Amino acid sequence: MKYIASIDQGTTSTRCIIFDRKGNIVSVGQKEHEQIYPKPGWVEHNSEEIWKNTLEVIARARIEKSIKTEDVAACGITNQRETTVVWNKRTGKAYYNAIVWQDTRVDDTVKALTKSHGSQFFQDRTGLPLATYFSGLKIKWILDNVPGVREDAEKGQAIFGNMDTFLIWHLTGGINGGLHITDVTNASRTQLMNLKTMSWDAELAEIMNIPLQMLPAIEPSSKVYGNITSEVLQGIPLAGDLGDQQAALVGQTCYQPGEAKNTYGTGCFMLMNTGTELVPSKHGLLTTVAYQFEGQPVHYALEGSVAIAGALVQWLRDNLGMIQKSTDIEKLAKSVEDNGGAYVVPAFSGLYAPYWKSSARGVIAGLTRYVNKGHIARAVLEATAYQTKDVLEAMENDSGIEISSLRVDGGMVVNELLMQFQSDMLKVPVIRPTMIETTALGAAYAAGLAVGYWASFDDLLQNWGVDKRWKPKMKATQRNTLYKGWKKAVKRSFDWEK
Ligand code: G3P
Repeated sequence: MKYIASIDQGTTSTRCIIFDRKGNIVSVGQKEHEQIYPKPGWVEHNSEEIWKNTLEVIARARIEKSIKTEDVAACGITNQRETTVVWNKRTGKAYYNAIVWQDTRVDDTVKALTKSHGSQFFQDRTGLPLATYFSGLKIKWILDNVPGVREDAEKGQAIFGNMDTFLIWHLTGGINGGLHITDVTNASRTQLMNLKTMSWDAELAEIMNIPLQMLPAIEPSSKVYGNITSEVLQGIPLAGDLGDQQAALVGQTCYQPGEAKNTYGTGCFMLMNTGTELVPSKHGLLTTVAYQFEGQPVHYALEGSVAIAGALVQWLRDNLGMIQKSTDIEKLAKSVEDNGGAYVVPAFSGLYAPYWKSSARGVIAGLTRYVNKGHIARAVLEATAYQTKDVLEAMENDSGIEISSLRVDGGMVVNELLMQFQSDMLKVPVIRPTMIETTALGAAYAAGLAVGYWASFDDLLQNWGVDKRWKPKMKATQRNTLYKGWKKAVKRSFDWEK
């Protein structure tokens, strides 16, 4: 068998990438889906549209290089995490649009539960502070607000899944007995799984008033779960499932404790492997599951989640019309020497790590008559780098490990100006590998290891290589002044929604 297929169901698009044994891309199918914003702070996706797109992108990837089913050894899946769907297992129909991870509609419930139980109570069990970000309260919202769902859930007919679970259920038979499963990494983002036992926590489910029977079975991230029944890949073993940020960690071959990667996508997510040790965070990070290969212990990670990174560039393009294509931002930002004193704090969904301020909202600070669109473009790119610095400092404080270089991936790493500025801000080299589609690659690795396509981690380590390395050049005084400005701007964004 020649290839591994990987489905990457992301926040803005769904892709199927076919990889060879060296981890090279053979072909790609990709399709964007609609972003639905019914009210300020609400973000939804149409899960039916995503399922149709999934079939289409698999077909496109296969057609592009005339790939036969018998050439594919296995298929892995990776997904935007936390995004929540509840559907009927008899009809296959969702009761409500998927509520996307960035959605803030459960803010009042977060406040009420913080008052009654305290955020630490949830963090001690799940590794996650109480926040609008995770799936549990989104499930609760659907149960409480959509007529008929609670009754169906109690009868065992309404079931929950993140996008991995929803697609696996469809791919393995749907209403005719599709598998209702998830993996440990995705389950660790629901705020319903106990991080020590890797099982659903009945007390947390009770507090959120969620019937346990609607939750999927929790599986390792790499294992043959079953065979695909959909025509596009019929009979192929489905053998890998990881949340997208954990998949990127696997794709970047960060298998040793202390190794970290940063993915610049819709948001920006830094994960550090902490091995089999669960490290509680005292500095605003999440403790989460990194991966589990079948028959092996669970590996944990510390994560710094930044909600808005590439999405800010898209906002500049779509909402302000300042650029035509996302990649145009680099040219515009290069038209000026610096940010002209301007800062953009993209707290569109509140602020995530390390601040966890759900009542924060976006601000543009430091404006004078001098500031032009080049400065704003620059401030937009810099926002991602400053947020990464906030997170890296928290990571070093929590882990006690000084990060000596940072492996990066995701769409924004083609932006050379950002990468140089990132290195300048962090004072460490930033390393871009030859393969930047590490998310899809990580899911392919999980699936390929499960079926013996790759024999061991050694095979995977050999596939990793450096494309480019940026070294810090900025003077300390300039770095400190810029970062001070950022910190001041961040404070301005706090408590906007109080
Ligand atoms: O936790 C949300 C994250 O998984 C979304 O990732 O790459 O779709 O922005 P991405």
